[in-house]
Amino acid sequence: MITITKESFGKLKTGEEVSLFRMTNCCGSYIEVLDYGCTLKSICVPNRLLSPVDVCLSYDSIAEYEEQDGYLGAVVGRHANRIGNGKFELNGKKYSVACNNGPNHLHGGIRGFDKYIWQAHTDETGVSFSRLSPDGEEGYPGNLNVCVRYGWSENNELSIHYTADTDADTVINLTNHCYFNLNGGGTALEHVLWVNSHSFCENDSNCLPTGRVVDTADCPAMDFTLPKSIGRDINMDDINLKNAGGYDHNYILSERGDNFAAAMLTCPQSGIDMTVSTTLPGIQVYSANFLTERRGKNGSCYSERDAVCLETQFFPNGLACGFEPAPVLKKGDSFDETTRYSFSLV
Ligand code: BGC
Repeated sequence: MITITKESFGKLKTGEEVSLFRMTNCCGSYIEVLDYGCTLKSICVPNRLLSPVDVCLSYDSIAEYEEQDGYLGAVVGRHANRIGNGKFELNGKKYSVACNNGPNHLHGGIRGFDKYIWQAHTDETGVSFSRLSPDGEEGYPGNLNVCVRYGWSENNELSIHYTADTDADTVINLTNHCYFNLNGGGTALEHVLWVNSHSFCENDSNCLPTGRVVDTADCPAMDFTLPKSIGRDINMDDINLKNAGGYDHNYILSERGDNFAAAMLTCPQSGIDMTVSTTLPGIQVYSANFLTERRGKNGSCYSERDAVCLETQFFPNGLACGFEPAPVLKKGDSFDETTRYSFSLV
């Protein structure tokens, strides 16, 4: 049985109350989520010594969440990752969305989904968060009803189910921006990663996809078709790694859906292993290159490459690049995508 509890997590600067929900399974493993930013705050699972390890980065106070710029654990939207110059064309009409990352739009704009309190609803095995993103928010067309449900199972599987509908055709790309560290802290460069992908989207020097798709066979440093540590090739003389300061690329998944692993991350020190599966077509492998010296949970200090994000998604800058499937939700259609993170011991 999953036990769900709710407690206060303090107040925003505006005085609004933030709640924390904890979902605990029969083994005592749990996840914690906040209604602020629909944020995944903790994932506590056993290591090989059967001691609990919180495998995601977080902050201790709501004030730090409000101040942060790293999107720790948040659901980002309406469009995760970048849209070049904040411009896209839909049904022959040109739209401009807020630019908040140099010349580009990033993770939903100035006030994206990560900076709102969502409406919470609990059921037997999970917590659902919903919000209405009004027509024109950050420049996006259409009133978008979004719901994100976090589920936690008896065998340490976290599911994130994204659903949405709209009253006008719009752009949508929802992901969760969790920073994983399967050792509970310190560098993640020794984590071993495998990705079910043979190609990735080339980026320019602002981490914006150019439209070119590169075969990993032509780019050994970028290749994760065989498991290797994140740190093994990260400093290689490779233009893709140099441009992004490490891994920060959308990999095109070879297979998707519940029956396929999209990626596997293993921590040799803790023995914790995480398998990702998703219905989405891509995954951003981000080695936390921009996570520079900052205070994290329990007084720890987070530095660059102390975590790995595996953000399942549509391909960034997809409309301008003509990538398929396009990150578009049509009026009358339903957005319905699920990503699962399953934890076990090696
Ligand atoms: C992006 C990075 C960005 C980070 C934090 C990732 O999803 O790919 O380029 O710096 O999020 O905003």
